[in-house]
This record gives sequence, structure tokens and C-alpha cells, in this order.
Amino acid sequence: MGEEEWLACRGPIESGWLTSGPQVQAFEQLFAELHQVPHAIAVTSATTALHLACVALGVGPGDEVIVPAFTWVSTANVVLYCGARPVFADIDPVTFNLNPEDVKKRLSPRTKAIMAVHLFGLCADMDALREVAGSVPIIEDAACAAGASYKGRMAGGLGVVGCFSFHPRKSVTTGEGGMCTTSDSELAERIRSLRNHGASISEEQRHKGPRPYILPEFNILGYNYRMTDLQAAVGLVQLKKMHSFIQERKRWAEYYFRELSEVPWLRLPHVPEDYGHGWQSYVTTVLPDQAPMPRNDLMEYLQQRGISTRPGTHAVHMLAYYREKLGLQPEDYPGARFANDHSMAIPLHNRMTAEDFEYIVHTLRNITA
Ligand SMILES: Cc1ncc(COP(=O)(O)O)c(C=O)c1O
Repeated sequence: MGEEEWLACRGPIESGWLTSGPQVQAFEQLFAELHQVPHAIAVTSATTALHLACVALGVGPGDEVIVPAFTWVSTANVVLYCGARPVFADIDPVTFNLNPEDVKKRLSPRTKAIMAVHLFGLCADMDALREVAGSVPIIEDAACAAGASYKGRMAGGLGVVGCFSFHPRKSVTTGEGGMCTTSDSELAERIRSLRNHGASISEEQRHKGPRPYILPEFNILGYNYRMTDLQAAVGLVQLKKMHSFIQERKRWAEYYFRELSEVPWLRLPHVPEDYGHGWQSYVTTVLPDQAPMPRNDLMEYLQQRGISTRPGTHAVHMLAYYREKLGLQPEDYPGARFANDHSMAIPLHNRMTAEDFEYIVHTLRNITA
């Protein structure tokens, strides 16, 4: 965030149009263009985007939705919001994304959708997932994947609906915020209405309409998941920088690859050929049999030296709520469990200096037991 974002807030404040209006429309349009999809619908977070994707696809009681066991908790939570059952599938601990073979085993006649998470900005293997999914729709949890691509196509246009996050830990931020993308006009209309209480027309259309006595029709149960124009004004500035943000992160990711490739106990992120990584995070794996100390001790060691690290994310099946609700054991998903226990995101963001990166590399290369 900088001066331009600060100045961008002036427009909506001066205009008096604070909730979803012209800035949101412009933000949606640019997001759609950048992600090569016909429709983008701005909402309040990726969580609400995922919720609307499920509702729009008719996910409800009695249905199952396949969710990776290693993701952010809200990928699974939204399935429960709909009264349906999340069915976890294991991940490949090398890419941190869904293992299509495991997805195949979890499919049932009740499977209503599959959540393909593009974790940390790396797209899931959509071709392999589509092959096992057959006619089951795939929702992209692209929370981390703004600007990412898969075999020449942008994230957000790879499934039936794509769901993005603008949380500050993401490459492009609006403080909080999210986006649904889709190529399906009917789904887009449904999601647009669902985010606005189920209204048949938008606030702006109503405000500017010729007949002030007409309120919208409300034919479906909706929500208030509207993004504000203040957020969208900031988002527009951020989006214009998205390419340069990602390019800069990519350059430093390449530096990490070069400089850390000979640290034998640290597995670096895997980027398959023909994938454009979004570099939301640079997530390594501390290999337990080779590392000079266990992952958590290493994280403390780095913290004491001013280097902030985090586990990539959590294994949702090991969180108390899910473990108890669904009767799950840590060993049910060995890939997710391994990633939960051994993944480590090392610093990568657009405010870091060359000295920061050099210091991190120097520290990691010189760790001994
Ligand atoms: C994979 C994944 N899904 C969903 C979310 C939720 O995003 P939000 O905070 O915008 O609701 C996140 C956020 O970190 C995420 O990483």
C-alpha cells in the first residue's frame, strides 16, 4: 500500500457513493480482463465467495463436497454453512495441492462439487482433476492465486466458479475482500443477486432507476456480501500493480531457488512446467530425517534472529472441530499431516530489500545442529 491507494480513497468519499457502486464495477471489470473471464463479482472475502459458489451450485443438505485436507479452514467451513458434508481428500505434499487419485476414491453419488485449492499461488492439476471429476463441477479456491496461470490459462477461468481473496496476506489486497469469477452468465447473475440479499437488481440500478417507488424483487434467500466502493478504489490501484508485484516476487523466488538449492534438508516449492506461480507465499518443507533440528525449533531459531516464518497452513482434518465432528484421525490423510507438521513459509513480499533476502539465505545456509 502506498500514496496512490491513499489518494484513491478520496474519490468515493467525495462522491458520497460508499457501498458497491462505480468503483466496484470498474474493479470487477479489470479483474475479469486480467483473469480472462467474462464475469467477476466482488464480495467481502474469499470465504463469502466460496460460500456463494456453493449456494449458486445448489449445494445443500445430503450433498458432499470434496475439499483438500490441507487448506485454510474456510474452504471446508463453507460446505457446512450450506448444510452439506465436507469430504476431505489428501494432497500431494510436494505441490501441496489435491492428489487427483485420492479425489477419485472419495467421489460418491452424493458428490455435488470439488474444491480445487490453488494453494500458495500454485494451480491445482486441473486437467487431472477434471478427468476424475467427470460431470461434477469444480470450484477453484483461488484465494491465493490472483495472477496465477495453468497451461497458459489464468486461474479463475479453470473451473465453474473461481474464488479469490484480497486479505492482506495476498499479493493484491483491499484490507478484506474477495471475488467470484465465472464464464457462466446464469451463475454470474445468481451470484450477483445472492451477494445482495437475493435482490433482483443492484443498489446502483435501483438508485438510478426512473421509478423510485419500485423496490427489487427478492425471490431467493441472499446475503449481504457486498464489497464497498472504498475497498474497490484501493483494489483498482493494487490490481494495476499486480503484474509487477508478482514479477518482483518471482525474481526473489528464483533467488531463493538458486541460493537454497544446496541446503539438503530444505525442500523448495515445486513449480511444474507450464504453470505460472502467483507467489502468494514461498513455502518450503523442513525434511524431518535430514534437518538439523525439528521444524518448530527451527522456526524459533529463525524468529530469534529476526526472521519470521509460518507453517504453510493447517491440516483441517486435524483441527479439533473437524476431528470431532467427522471422527477423523491425523493418519487418515498422511500427505496433509506431513505438510501440517513440516511446511514452513519463509518471507516473500514486496516490501523486502535485497539485504533482507541475503540475510535469510545466509542464515538458512549456515544452520548447524
Ligand atoms: C486457500 C484459502 N481459501 C480461503 C481463504 C479465505 O480467504 P478470506 O480471508 O478472504 O476469507 C484463504 C485465506 O487465507 C485461503 O488461503
